[in-house]
Amino acid sequence: MFSTQTRNLRNGNVLTLRCALVEDAAMTLDYLRLVSGETDNLTFRPEEFNTTLERQSQVIEEWGGRGGLYLLGLVDGELASVLTFEPRSKSRTAHAGEFGLTVRQSFWGLGIATEMVQALIDWAHGTGRIRKIDLHVRTDNDAAIAVYKKLGFQNEGLITRGMLIDGVFYDFYHMGLHIE
Ligand SMILES: CC(C)(COP(=O)(O)OP(=O)(O)OC[C@H]1O[C@@H](n2cnc3c(N)ncnc32)[C@H](O)[C@@H]1OP(=O)(O)O)[C@@H](O)C(=O)NCCC(=O)NCCS
Repeated sequence: MFSTQTRNLRNGNVLTLRCALVEDAAMTLDYLRLVSGETDNLTFRPEEFNTTLERQSQVIEEWGGRGGLYLLGLVDGELASVLTFEPRSKSRTAHAGEFGLTVRQSFWGLGIATEMVQALIDWAHGTGRIRKIDLHVRTDNDAAIAVYKKLGFQNEGLITRGMLIDGVFYDFYHMGLHIE
């Protein structure tokens, strides 16, 4: 359960944090298509993002049922950020999961990523069942790494050749946070 919350951003705008609803399917699809063209730090390109509206509605509907968090960050009703956290499915690993995070480029540098990840950490504490949060981040993604380190994530190892773009390999860090 995640209750809707608001945060004041450093530019004076208000960030609303809430769970995605099935009615948000079209908005999240438009958003994901847009942000995938704004960065090379995501695993998919806009042309590879071909989820249908029906499928996206289903994804959102089923997300909470699997014990995950599909979190939206909105500024003046506009979608500025999406964070998805999914626990692993087997009983011996369901205490842990990985998250993915994007912030729309026009909203970078306002502290939105920091607020989204902090909200995930707070939510994880409240579940009583999530004991570990994992993530993969490209080793050259300095802004994302700065956010994760600031919030207490530790570097747990290097994943070589995590991405291949135009003949160039990029490595990932595996980072993690214990929820005590
Ligand atoms: C990475 C990303 C999530 C950051 O979002 P954001 O809302 O701009 O992040 P915040 O404003 O909360 O924080 C960014 C921090 O990085 C710091 N930073 C920015 N550029 C930096 C750089 N080149 N080197 C080191 N730190 C940097 C900022 O100073 C800020 O820290 P501060 O708040 O303590 O000053 C956003 O740029 C994004 O969505 N990028 C594309 C997708 C992506 O990379 N997702 C993460 C995949 S793991």
